[in-house]
Amino acid sequence: MELLDSHAHYNDEKFDNDRDIIIKEAYNSGVKTIINAGYSLESSKKAIEIANQYKFMYATVGVSPNDIEDVKTNYIEEIEKLANDYKVVAIGEIGLDYYWNKENKEKQKEIFIEQINLANKLNLPIVIHTRDAITDTIDILKNKIKCKKTGVFHCCPLNVELVKEAIKLGFYISFAGPVTFKNSKNADEIVKIVPLDKMLIETDSPYLSPEPVRGTRNDSRNVKYIAQKIAKVREKTIEEIAKQIKENAKTIFRIGEENGKY
Ligand code: NI
Repeated sequence: MELLDSHAHYNDEKFDNDRDIIIKEAYNSGVKTIINAGYSLESSKKAIEIANQYKFMYATVGVSPNDIEDVKTNYIEEIEKLANDYKVVAIGEIGLDYYWNKENKEKQKEIFIEQINLANKLNLPIVIHTRDAITDTIDILKNKIKCKKTGVFHCCPLNVELVKEAIKLGFYISFAGPVTFKNSKNADEIVKIVPLDKMLIETDSPYLSPEPVRGTRNDSRNVKYIAQKIAKVREKTIEEIAKQIKENAKTIFRIGEENGKY
């Protein structure tokens, strides 16, 4: 069985001492594709550098809503340059975060839209980070700008209304550690309403370790716990879920021999 981690941050300094060991262990444990996510210009550059060291690793580039305060006026050109790298499969993570930043909502929206425009120009999907900003996120995707290639709600908030709207708009839902948490009341309900061909799984490493390893530094080996949870709720085998998710990642990120990437 081949698993996949659709969103991890091996560009994080928490991996500085053992990055290569962990990545190889994850691969040997069956995680055969990893997408390394950028969240600022620096971390995007680093995501690409690391991805270029492993045949099975890809990268996303973009500026997250929590990293917009230091962007320079030419940041879009900088992201575009980075996105030319063969390993880049999406613009992200981008979006809105009113949990950590309430004071600059208009700037967050503007930068989110500018990066969607870039994704459209480059024919790339987007990877969305949204936290405490569901209404505005949906409003942008529905009414302000159309996403040519759609994209993924990474570590999707477990909110029924958001998930339904996201699916209607053609987006993929990526499940992370929180679906395994004992206090996630509606996790099962959400896992049930997402069509199997619209699901992805991720760790968001080094954060958000799933049960039963909650509280430890997360890495891609733990993605199996997310797959197990989905398999249980959907009454499928973990192999069936893994196979479907691999197909989904191929479709949205154009990963696969047919499309010219590894
Ligand atoms: Ni992330």
